[in-house]
Amino acid sequence: MSEKITLSVIKADVGGYVGHSSIHANLIETAKEKLSIAAEKGILIDFHVTRCGDDLELIMTHEHGVDAEDIHKLAWNVFVACTEVAKKLKLYGAGQDLLADSFSGTVKGMGPGVAEMEFEERKSEPVIIFMADKTASGAWNLPLFKIFADPFNTAGLVIDPTMHEGFIFEVVDVYEQKKITLSTPEEMYNLLMFIGAIRRFIIKTVYRKDGMIAASASTQKLSLIAGKYVGKDDPVLVVRCQAGLPAVGEVLEPFAFAHIVEGWMRGSHNGPLMPVAFYEANPSRFDGPPRVIAAGFQLCHGKLIGPRDLFDDPAFDGARRRANEIADYLRHHGPFEPHRLGLDDLEYTTMPQLMKKLEHRFIPE
Ligand code: F6R
Ligand code: MG
Ligand code: MG
Repeated sequence: MSEKITLSVIKADVGGYVGHSSIHANLIETAKEKLSIAAEKGILIDFHVTRCGDDLELIMTHEHGVDAEDIHKLAWNVFVACTEVAKKLKLYGAGQDLLADSFSGTVKGMGPGVAEMEFEERKSEPVIIFMADKTASGAWNLPLFKIFADPFNTAGLVIDPTMHEGFIFEVVDVYEQKKITLSTPEEMYNLLMFIGAIRRFIIKTVYRKDGMIAASASTQKLSLIAGKYVGKDDPVLVVRCQAGLPAVGEVLEPFAFAHIVEGWMRGSHNGPLMPVAFYEANPSRFDGPPRVIAAGFQLCHGKLIGPRDLFDDPAFDGARRRANEIADYLRHHGPFEPHRLGLDDLEYTTMPQLMKKLEHRFIPE
């Protein structure tokens, strides 16, 4: 019998503890309470609540499909309830990512980040949920390319006949609100031309050529929704693994290289994305450097068996050490590019206000 289930990861920063470095346990508890009520009522099959830095992460399984109003409303209500708790404790930036006054059908475009996929649960269904803090949507472009299109990363692309055909990438232009579908390996160079521009072109979904969904990423850009800087997107990503898809180890492998992403202090700096164990996902140094955690689950009739803390492995120590070295090196640049983002990239920060203030002081040279 086939079982169609939906895996929804919906996240928001609704209050930091201390500053933007982490989250208070009461928020996690409140979210768990609310989601257990939903599970008892049968709205959810199962759920897991966690956090990465100051972001509250709701991992949910259900049978309502993607973009389901009931599920989005549930997540929104959880974030509202957690905001109340954050306000009571005067936590930092309470309700930060709730950009709308009330719920209207979907959390999309309202602040929270969403990665969802509906699929038939396979005989065994290993999934990895990546969650990042202090970085922007687009941070997954490089690892997703490596996982699904780089034979130097994913041995299965060469060795496993079921992967030989390659994969299809759906890429969103977040500035123009358009999307394009590109097929690898044939269109690899076209794909790279777009996804190398991580601020504008963001990989949203990856499919196998037989149509099977393999990965889904959050693509919301808080700055474009709010028209100003309100915090970083802190994206999430869901990847299915094994048996004709990249193996767990192939999916984790790109993170052994701490690639440079935008975010970090005031969302205005480039820095390395450091893979860490759950307990180390508390970006403190210069509000960073950016972090990523990987939660592994086996799905069992929609139940989330797990998580396994997949970066809790000394094999990622090298990446962490390297990330710290890169962080030191970049920090020495202080307010200079390329540590600080370029002027165009600072468009949605407080920088334009400052520029405006000094505009009249410029005279012809
Ligand atoms: C980055 C982030 C922090 C804040 C910084 C200033 O995503 O959230 O680095 O930008 O701590 O915060 P405010 O302006 O709230 O004092
Ligand atoms: Mg915050
Ligand atoms: Mg955050």
